[in-house]
Amino acid sequence: MKAVVFDDERTIRKVMEKILKKEGIEVKTYESGEEALKIVKELKPDIVFLDISLPDADGMELLRSIVSLENRPYVVMISGHDEYNYLIEAMKLGAFDYIPKPFDIDKIRKVVAEIREILSVKTVSDLGEADIIGKSQVMKEVFKIVGRASASNQPVLITGESGTGKEVIAKLIHKYSNRSDKPFIAINCGAIPSGLIEAELFGYEKGAFTGADRSRQGKFQAADGGTIFLDEISELPLEAQTKLLRVLQEMEITPVGSTKSVKVDVRVIAATNKNLVKLIAEDKFREDLFYRLSVIEINLPPLRERKEDIPELVELFTKQALKNHGLKKGGFTEEAVELLKMYDFPGNIRELRNLVHKLIAIYRERPITPDLIKLQFEPEKQVILDWKEGLKKEVAELFSKGKKNIYTRLVEEAEKVVIEEILKYTKGNISEASKYLGIHRNTVHKKVEELNIQKGKGR
Ligand SMILES: Nc1ncnc2c1ncn2[C@@H]1O[C@H](COP(=O)(O)OP(=O)(O)OP(=O)(O)O)[C@@H](O)[C@H]1O
Ligand SMILES: [Mg+2]
Repeated sequence: MKAVVFDDERTIRKVMEKILKKEGIEVKTYESGEEALKIVKELKPDIVFLDISLPDADGMELLRSIVSLENRPYVVMISGHDEYNYLIEAMKLGAFDYIPKPFDIDKIRKVVAEIREILSVKTVSDLGEADIIGKSQVMKEVFKIVGRASASNQPVLITGESGTGKEVIAKLIHKYSNRSDKPFIAINCGAIPSGLIEAELFGYEKGAFTGADRSRQGKFQAADGGTIFLDEISELPLEAQTKLLRVLQEMEITPVGSTKSVKVDVRVIAATNKNLVKLIAEDKFREDLFYRLSVIEINLPPLRERKEDIPELVELFTKQALKNHGLKKGGFTEEAVELLKMYDFPGNIRELRNLVHKLIAIYRERPITPDLIKLQFEPEKQVILDWKEGLKKEVAELFSKGKKNIYTRLVEEAEKVVIEEILKYTKGNISEASKYLGIHRNTVHKKVEELNIQKGKGR
């Protein structure tokens, strides 16, 4: 481990150096804070001990800049002030700890031990490869396309329901591309007022509109050499769509209020949970832009179509949640995971993630059993779960009795229920029922006879 100390008091520097060296830590001390940021960037220490009131720098400002570095070290503030407002402010800015002067040597040792422990544990919180789950066949297909997409510069369109991982996949393509050391800039087209979107994407010149008191770079320029992720692309106003199309064709942008265009080299990845083809038919999305964006298309399957990924996702989210709460034990029983596999998760991975985090927050180290999960579901969802559970029990019973025709028996029973119920709604009208069921009229007719279905009198 490496540490740096910024403190203008000579004795503090000496003491710190001694303690840290004894702990086996490589240490450098500095009297001045002027070059602190530069030093931290160069030396890449694991820990920074920082005096709040250096004569030539503002410790709080330094803290702010150090914690915003990409590979940020743990910053421990040392301070002569012990008023609570300094303490709150420093912790809020992201200090790891705050040690008032004159300090106790044991406090320093304790903080070092804590950081050592954290560094020795592999973290799961930041998006590393181990944090992306996808053993299911459908996800393997997705990863193949990600691989192909990473090797090219063509635009990619990622479609999929909300919470299926569109942003995760966009980042993955960037990570594996030869642009990975350049920026990945994400912009949510739905979150920016339509009047500002062009300025946001392409930048603007001073005086381009009221309030533009200086010129500003847009996201395309910020992403130069890298990747821009246009999330919720369906929300892009038509005018901006026209401009985007031109950018994709020419690979140059014209800031708002400017007449000069600027060359850019940006890989575009767009995402949507809407049906763009439908929006094209409604004249809300440009067809030519759609073709341009969807040179490579990735459709992320909903979680209900890859339930085999649920156990690993639960494991991953459990680990994250336990870590967030500083818990050593806890998690789902096997039966609980089985129950989760029965549920369809309309909110997809995000819903599963939130559910796991919520349950761990409530039950902490207590094993999470099916009944605890059910408490989280609304009554309508409970019925669905109970129904599938009931079916499982039925399977178990038939199996234990050694029955041989389990499949036909249960499928027929299910068919009978479905057809009978729909016929009740259509008051026994077979043609109409066939439309709702999505099977041919003749088939419905045949089933009614075969399965001895009552052609209900209506509800
Ligand atoms: N394959 C995966 N493995 C692990 N976690 C995942 C995976 N895919 C998505 N997640 C997690 O699920 C959550 C939702 O993912 P993401 O934000 O990428 O979805 P999205 O499709 O962009 O959703 P929305 O349409 O709502 O914006 C995030 O917390 C993400 O980390
Ligand atoms: Mg998203």
